[in-house]
Amino acid sequence: MVRVGLVGLGFMGQQHFTIYDGMDDVEVVAVCDRIPERVAETAPSIGGNIGEATELDLSAQVRYVCLDEMLEDGELDCVDICTPTHLHAEMTVAALEAGNHVVCEKPMARTEAQCAEMIAAAESTGNMLFIAQCIRFWPEYEVLQAMIDDGSLGEVRAARFVRQSPPPGWASDGWLLDPELSGGALLDLHIHDVDFIISAFGMPNAVSAHAVNILSEGAAVDHVDTTYIYDDLVCTAQGGWVMPDSYPFEMGFQVLGTEGLLEFSLAKDPPLQFFPFEGEPYAPEYQPGTGYENELAYFVECMEAGRAPERVTPESARQSVRIVMAEADSIAGREPVIIG
Ligand SMILES: NC(=O)c1ccc[n+]([C@@H]2O[C@H](COP(=O)([O-])OP(=O)(O)OC[C@H]3O[C@@H](n4cnc5c(N)ncnc54)[C@H](O)[C@@H]3O)[C@@H](O)[C@H]2O)c1
Repeated sequence: MVRVGLVGLGFMGQQHFTIYDGMDDVEVVAVCDRIPERVAETAPSIGGNIGEATELDLSAQVRYVCLDEMLEDGELDCVDICTPTHLHAEMTVAALEAGNHVVCEKPMARTEAQCAEMIAAAESTGNMLFIAQCIRFWPEYEVLQAMIDDGSLGEVRAARFVRQSPPPGWASDGWLLDPELSGGALLDLHIHDVDFIISAFGMPNAVSAHAVNILSEGAAVDHVDTTYIYDDLVCTAQGGWVMPDSYPFEMGFQVLGTEGLLEFSLAKDPPLQFFPFEGEPYAPEYQPGTGYENELAYFVECMEAGRAPERVTPESARQSVRIVMAEADSIAGREPVIIG
């Protein structure tokens, strides 16, 4: 049985709690949130952009409003961090140093330097660190990765990714719309596509990004369009959180290989379809679901086996933050940024 302490019972923390609740080999023994109502015996449901939201029964958990106290009480194998992004580094380092494995929500941290602190703490303590880059585990993206790996797409020549939503109104104290805390849509939302792109295609030679600010004052990026420059692949990602409230959350891709086009769009039916150059279009078979349950099941397996996670290494999650920061530099400097 893996004993988990979960910190941050907002939208994502509630998703993680519900997923663990359905696992036989995991027990959430402690929960922590600085807002007392969120760790009351019955916690109100917090909805987000995707996934079901439900009221939580926390009567079986030890409940805290301070992470240090949860860590001092010990008796945990793993700390799951679902707090706002600017807190990821300090909480991860504290949890690792207190003797726990850590799963921390994406983005890994607010800055690349903070990512480095987290990696150093994992290395010095020998505890596992897993960053929940869920798109690598999202079923439709897993199909895409498999079709790249097994050659059924052929040589990939063009790839286009999209992710857009209305403004994230659920965030506690509005932290997501504060660029200092969240890094804006660029670091919070668009990083999902960045992370998938570099895990599938490797680091680009350069990035060229253009953005607009509609919602936030200051340096936050609300909507971005980036070209990732590779030798033999045309690759772009567009996204942001400036859609009207009535617009449903959208994520998807079109990836064109020498064998055909794989397209995913939440707005289409079927959402995932392959259009081969030879033969009829078809919908690939896969187990529907979310990347949230798949990623947590994977990390639990890693902890049970005592094997460091390979599907998302801390270093690879740091590279995603690095590319996002290069995009921010490209936007600010109005020119492409070379990735060294
Ligand atoms: N994987 C995904 O698709 C996805 C989706 C949404 C959010 N996220 C990530 O999850 C993290 C949390 O985002 P969210 O949308 O759940 O935000 P949220 O505001 O809904 O929840 C954050 C929770 O952390 C609590 N908190 C803040 N400071 C705390 C502290 N010092 N100690 C204890 N609790 C504290 C807040 O009270 C709140 O309940 C962010 O890093 C975000 O980027 C990931």
